[in-house]
Formats: sequence, structure tokens, C-alpha cells
Amino acid sequence: MIRISFDNSCFEISLVNHHLLPAPGFQRFADTKVKLKLVQSMANIARLLTKRAQDQFPNVVYPLQVITRLNSSSNKSWEFIKTEVTGEKKNVAVITLNRPKALNALCNGLMKELSTALKAYGKDANISAIVLTGSEKAFAAGADIKEMAPNTYSQCIQGNFLNDWTEVARTQKPIIAAVNGYALGGGCELAMMCDIIYAGDKAKFGQPEIALGTIPGVGGTQRLTRVVGRSKAMEMCLTGNMINAQEAEKVGLVSKVIPPDQLLVEAVKLGEKIGTHSNLIVQLCKEAVNTAFETTLEEGLKYERRFNHATFSTIDCKEGVKAFIEKRPAKFINE
Ligand code: CAA
Repeated sequence: MIRISFDNSCFEISLVNHHLLPAPGFQRFADTKVKLKLVQSMANIARLLTKRAQDQFPNVVYPLQVITRLNSSSNKSWEFIKTEVTGEKKNVAVITLNRPKALNALCNGLMKELSTALKAYGKDANISAIVLTGSEKAFAAGADIKEMAPNTYSQCIQGNFLNDWTEVARTQKPIIAAVNGYALGGGCELAMMCDIIYAGDKAKFGQPEIALGTIPGVGGTQRLTRVVGRSKAMEMCLTGNMINAQEAEKVGLVSKVIPPDQLLVEAVKLGEKIGTHSNLIVQLCKEAVNTAFETTLEEGLKYERRFNHATFSTIDCKEGVKAFIEKRPAKFINE
């Protein structure tokens, strides 16, 4: 057990199950900033301990696992999201946006927590895929309009407004958006930053920024256009009209429409299916698919070919091919 005092609070982290709890006699976290600082301080301490342990016992790997679980087990302290690790092999992380009263409007605090959680799961070797979801009424109703109301041009430029949102698109592991209810403005853009979108059959997608006198700021005019084509994207962005789940599936924005109460189960199953493969090869494959959005066909094909060649240098490719020939399930080690 490590005990840490911080800003009039005192917390303990268990090195057995890595739970973070207020120490007996102390209250819960005062605010998110304190929580984040705490998690960072503890990660730093754990890193320090790991370094010392590695110097003394170079063959012992357990302290490294402590760090990764520490990073991703800080669930209890979130204010705007909930996190959980699930699936039969406990290899699928579920992040739930949790501001129900504001229909999961994406305030700064929420986006910071989301980035922190994604970074932690990105580094956690036990996690193969991440599911991002909201409530039954709203995946997310967009950027927090009340928070952005006082924005000025110079503040947006100097504060690099919306720059914090890009962690989702930067995450190397596959992210599945499980969208029930509204995915509007930044909410639709957030879903599009994920790799696969599953939608509940009452989901609604839209880019209504135009009605606020602004325009999309994190991909609504770019990712949407690449996915659904110019005419549909133009119609959605210029009118602010929403499309329903069925239409979103028809235009290729979502890959499957599912009854709302089954949505999360199906998204987790999808994560588990991806998790049966080599995490290493999945990562390469995700990067190759994403390259299709960034480059010409010729360049993209060259990139894909080189990645294909590179897979033959991995232990997992040798194992996958051998397992097929020997008619047995492959045992991947992500190497
Ligand atoms: N920001 C802040 N608060 C929001 C919000 C948002 N984007 N969307 C909803 N809320 C709040 C409402 O203000 C309301 O709060 P109060 O109870 O305190 O008044 C609560 O959530 C419930 O909302 P409604 O009463 O409006 O619920 P409804 O069922 O009648 O309507 C809705 C649902 C159609 C989604 C409607 O809330 C709505 O149109 N929301 C705004 C959608 C929008 O314009 N999104 C784009 C934001 S800008 C953006 O995202 C820019 C970018 O590119 C990053």
C-alpha cells in the first residue's frame, strides 16, 4: 500500500489490486484537477519504484504491470466519465460519457478525462480494444455550448480551442463507438474519430453547428465528407438536419444498427473478437486502413504493401500461419 498526501487530501493505492481510495478519515477528491494531479503523482512514484526495482532485479517484470494497471484503474476518481474493463478475457475497456443532465455535452473537463483514460488504456498491454459509449438518450449532444459561449477569436487561437479533442484519433488501439440517442456536433465528430461505429436503432447523427452561427471544428466538414460523400455532408452541415441510424448505416457512417439494449453487448463482443488477434498486427492494420484517408491510392498501396511485408518479420505471423496449417487456434504474443 502506498499512501500519498496532497492538497489536504490523503489517498492510498493498493499494490495488490491497484485500487485508489481515500485514506480512512479523509474525504473524496475535491475536484478533477486534484484528481488528475494525484493520478499523475502516483504514476510518477510507481515509475520511480519500478526503475529502482529494475536496477536491482533486472529480470523481474511485475512492477511494470503495476504501472499499467495503475494508469487504467483510476476509475473511481472520474467526474465526467466512467471506465470499466470487461469481456471474458478482461481485455476490452469501456469508457462511458457520464454527464446525463447535459446530454453528455463535451466540456473541457470531460475531454481531458477522456484523453487521460485513452492514454492509459493505450499503454495497458492487457487491453485489446476500447468501446466508447454514452447514455440511452445521448452519446453526446456536442461541445458544451454554455462553456464555449464566452469564447472570442483571440482566446480560441491563443488557447488552441478544441486541440485537446484529438487524442481519440491518435489512439493506436481500435476504438468502437457505441452510439445510442443523439450524436450531434462534436458528438458526431467524436464518434467519427473512432474506428467503427455501432448505432442503436434510435440514434441520431447531425452537425447542427450552423444553427448556432458557427461551423464544425473537429472533423464535421472533413471526416464526414470523406465517409458519406460531398452531397450528403454538405446537406447535413448546411441545414443542421439530423439523420437517423438507418440512414447513417445506408450512407456508411455506421457499420451496424442494433436494438439499443443490445448495443453495448454487441460492441464489447466486437472488441473481444478483435482481441482474439495479435494486438500488434491489429495496430498495423488500423494504421494501414487510416492511411487510406490521408493519402493517394498509389501511396496508400505502397504503404499497405510495406506493412504486409513487415508482418512476416513478426513472431505472431509465423504463429498464425503455423496454427492454420496445424489446424489449431493461434497463440499470439504481440511480438
Ligand atoms: N451544450 C450544453 N448543454 C447542452 C447541450 C450542449 N451541446 N445539449 C444539451 N444541453 C443541455 C440543455 O441545455 C439542457 O440543460 P438544462 O436542463 O440545464 O436546460 C439539457 O442538456 C437537456 O437538453 P434539452 O432540454 O435541450 O433536451 P431536448 O431533449 O429537448 O433536446 C437536443 C435534445 C436536440 C440534443 C438539444 O439539447 C440540442 O439541440 N442540443 C444542442 C445540440 C448542438 O447544437 N450541438 C452542437 C454543439 S457545438 C459543437 O459541437 C462544435 C464543435 O464542432 C466542436
